[in-house]
Amino acid sequence: MTTLTLQPSGKTFEFEAGTNLLKAILAAGEALASKCGGEAKCGACHIFVKEGRKGVSKLTPAENAKLDTLVGIGSKSRLACQVTLLGTEPVTVELLGALN
Ligand code: FES
Repeated sequence: MTTLTLQPSGKTFEFEAGTNLLKAILAAGEALASKCGGEAKCGACHIFVKEGRKGVSKLTPAENAKLDTLVGIGSKSRLACQVTLLGTEPVTVELLGALN
């Protein structure tokens, strides 16, 4: 199991390793847009991985290309739809709300 903490709410959830991050966030009852259906094309699911970067899958070329087109990205930016929770360490994610 992987511990996933969501900010700013501070809620913590447990998920199986291999769970898609966007699906985990939605399953936790948080709102996160996903206009392209998880294809790395809309950028609406942009989040920051604040802690636990070894607990998530690596950037894909499609994700990297889309992130380059977004405003407000940083070194912790990821597209939640492209991230798999690996279960190797707890992960803390910041939902960006109005920034998306
Ligand atoms: S849902 Fe569109 S990029 Fe993630």
